[in-house]
Amino acid sequence: MAYIKAWRSAILHCIENPTDVGSEKAFEYYPDGILVVTDGIISALGHASEILLELPNSMDIEHHPEALIIPGFIDTHIHYPQSDMIASYGEQLLDWLNHYTFPEESKFSDKEFARDVADRFLKELLRNGTTTALVFGTVHKQSVDAFFEATESLDLRMICGKVMMDRHAPDDLTDTPESSYQDSKALIETWHEKGRLHYAVTPRFAPTSTSEQLSAAGKLLTEYDNLYLHTHLSENVQECEWVQALFPESKHYLDVYDQHQLLSERSVFAHGIHLCDHEYQRLSETGSAVAFCPTSNLFLGSGLFDLSKAEFHKLNVGMGTDVGGGTSFSMFKTLNEAYKVIQLQGQNLDPIKSFYLATLGGAKALRLEHKVGNLAVGTEADFVILDKTATPLIKTRLARSKEIADTLFALMILADDRVVKATYSMGKCVHRREE
Ligand code: GUN
Ligand code: ZN
Repeated sequence: MAYIKAWRSAILHCIENPTDVGSEKAFEYYPDGILVVTDGIISALGHASEILLELPNSMDIEHHPEALIIPGFIDTHIHYPQSDMIASYGEQLLDWLNHYTFPEESKFSDKEFARDVADRFLKELLRNGTTTALVFGTVHKQSVDAFFEATESLDLRMICGKVMMDRHAPDDLTDTPESSYQDSKALIETWHEKGRLHYAVTPRFAPTSTSEQLSAAGKLLTEYDNLYLHTHLSENVQECEWVQALFPESKHYLDVYDQHQLLSERSVFAHGIHLCDHEYQRLSETGSAVAFCPTSNLFLGSGLFDLSKAEFHKLNVGMGTDVGGGTSFSMFKTLNEAYKVIQLQGQNLDPIKSFYLATLGGAKALRLEHKVGNLAVGTEADFVILDKTATPLIKTRLARSKEIADTLFALMILADDRVVKATYSMGKCVHRREE
């Protein structure tokens, strides 16, 4: 028998890109809405006054009058092994990698250690309302087994991959072109498209891979359908200079990846701060996506992502927390910093656009928009119940809000995990806030 349940609350989701249709037409808002879920899939969404007429009297309806239901957030770039080294002081990217990141990632040769971090990482994502993420593992194959095993009982839609890194890192963190190919292949065979899981071929970034290894990554992409490519691009000025010195024959940073056939509709490049017009163009024409990671870009002093230029070139953009270079698992805090990054460039980031980037825009960047990212009928029931009275300040600020865009904006600036009352994956509760 089908399992049906409904939730009644204010409900908000995006249906289009605000840049294409204007903010007003990009979302649907039900001040008193009902979301119906049948066997994990959304089977109805609408105004309570209409949907109630169609539901049987015996229907199990959970009512949240002081809440706002939204789709689960989508984090398009994060490192699970860096969870516990978040907030490491005083360095920019290349020194930060050597002083903090590599020693931390060495610990993931121990699968039990990795599993413990993966379990806590997933809890942290869910307490922040994030239900799908594109996740870096470490160079160790078992780090990805541990991650996917941890996701299985929660039935989350997740993407992860083993780091490929064969130079410019400590010996215990390097693989070879051949071993990285074989290990990635074994992980793909075990996990890719198993239930809701997907595999991402994950060369760390151009400086830590030889050309042979990048070719092995490109070969994997041709051997299986629907694989992702996940890496870093043009984050930090010294990094960009280093790439130019290591690959003198490449036209620019992106060209290194391009020459190894790594640009595709399922390629996601984190950061993309210091790009030339040709790089924007190539990203656009190959359907590649960029993960905008504002807390990381500010924390590591990397620079300001130019969203308007990305939009001009019609790039797919999603939001990334980039923990542990990023400073929070919270998409609210990430959007808060995104707003400031855009302000510093003399522009505004509209709250509906921000919300889009963290939900449907992220899903589109990951080519998952028919499964997650909004609450459309037929999609998977990954959603979050937000408590509009979570703190005294949020309660009073939202009480004066007359429009949903203003409510959203105030949440983006003021909210964090305290407002996430419950998180659902396929209609099942996977996080409930302690009261
Ligand atoms: N570039 C290469 N590796 C990393 C990493 O772990 N974090 C960030 N932010 N940038 C990188
Ligand atoms: Zn990163």
